This record gives sequence, C-alpha cells and structure tokens, in this order.
Amino acid sequence: MSLQHRNTADNNPDLPFKFNAQNETLIAEILKRYPPQYKKAAVMPLLDLGQRQHGFTSISVMNEVARMLEMPPMRVYEVASFYTMYNRNPVGKFFVQACTTTPCQLGGCGSDSIVKAISSHLGIKQGETTADGLFTFIEVECLGACVNAPMIQINDDYYEDLTPETTIALLKALKESASAVGSSSAKVPAAGPLTGRQTCENSKGLTNLLEEPWGVEKTRSDL
Ligand code: FES
Repeated sequence: MSLQHRNTADNNPDLPFKFNAQNETLIAEILKRYPPQYKKAAVMPLLDLGQRQHGFTSISVMNEVARMLEMPPMRVYEVASFYTMYNRNPVGKFFVQACTTTPCQLGGCGSDSIVKAISSHLGIKQGETTADGLFTFIEVECLGACVNAPMIQINDDYYEDLTPETTIALLKALKESASAVGSSSAKVPAAGPLTGRQTCENSKGLTNLLEEPWGVEKTRSDL
C-alpha cells in the first residue's frame, strides 16, 4: 500500500466523517483511561474505531481523530501510515490476509498453495479487490498462529490448519453469506482450525500424561 495519500473521489478531506453515537460512547470510555493532557495516547483505538465504522482509515477519519485529540493531523497520519493494520484505502467486505512467513510456508500444505488457491479462485493478485467489492487479498507476515499453519485472517477471524480445498470452500461460503438473507450465513465455518481441532492440541491425541500420577513425590526426607 502506498505511503502517500492521493485525493480520490472516495478518499479526500472534503468528505465529512463523524463518529456515530455508539462510537462516541466508546470514545468517552477510552478517553477516561488517560489524563486529559495526554489524550493523544488514544490515537490508535480511535483510528481503529474510525476504520471499523467507515470501512477504511480515510483521510477524513484521520482528520477527525486529530481534531478530537487536539493533535496536529500529521502526527495522526504518521501513526496510521506506520501500522499496516490501518487500511488507508478501501478494502472489500472480506479482507483476506494470508500469512506467508516461514512456519506457514513450511507447515501443513504450505502457504504457497494457499496463496495460489486464493488468487486463482478469486481471480485477483495480492493487493487487489474483486470486481464485486467482496474480497481484498493481501499477503502478510506472521500473525502469531504458527502452530496451526498454514492460516489466514479474514476480518477479525483466524482460519487455521488450511488446505487449498478448505480455503476455497471458506471463500465460497463467505460469498454466499454476503448475498444470502437470514440463517443461511450459518454455512460459514466457525473460525479456528478447520480440521476439527479445538485449538492447537495434538491432532493424533494424547501422547503423554496418560496415566494417573502416582502420588506426591518427596525428594527430601525431612519434609
Ligand atoms: S508464520 Fe504464519 S502465523 Fe506465524
């Protein structure tokens, strides 16, 4: 993503942005964490709220955060452009981030095959959004779930222990959920490992601590 801002029709400072009432309440709570003279410390959570409300961290979101926290706008731009989690351009409804760091590249079927599956199924390359606006796909560095490699993050959820087949099934289910009404969105798999593991337990079952402990062990006779 470019570090520079260029005004576009959907991202320029003339477009108004205001936090909604629900976020105003959250912001009031967040600001209570800091002494009034240090309220700029709230810049990151406020940018996050702005991104969630608006869909991306537009220049108007950044300017509004700067106004509320009485910061020079440039200080806010510096934060928003340093952290890659702030999307300063619009992204699709489903923001697909595929981890391609070494453990994911080597674990299971490997992230190369996951990236290939995503790219060929969606018909987009890294950094692009599908024409229907549903999916944006990027490659990212380690997301901290290496033990369940390979994995991807979609919006706030992690999907782990992936294969190309489960990845494509997941993308299809998300697409269906976007056009469906009511309960049909239940077809989207629950976040987490897609192999039936609960978390990161051994998929072959227990291999140790199989017997009852033999009692309290004493190593000192004087106790
Ligand atoms: S390497 Fe992929 S989550 Fe850590």
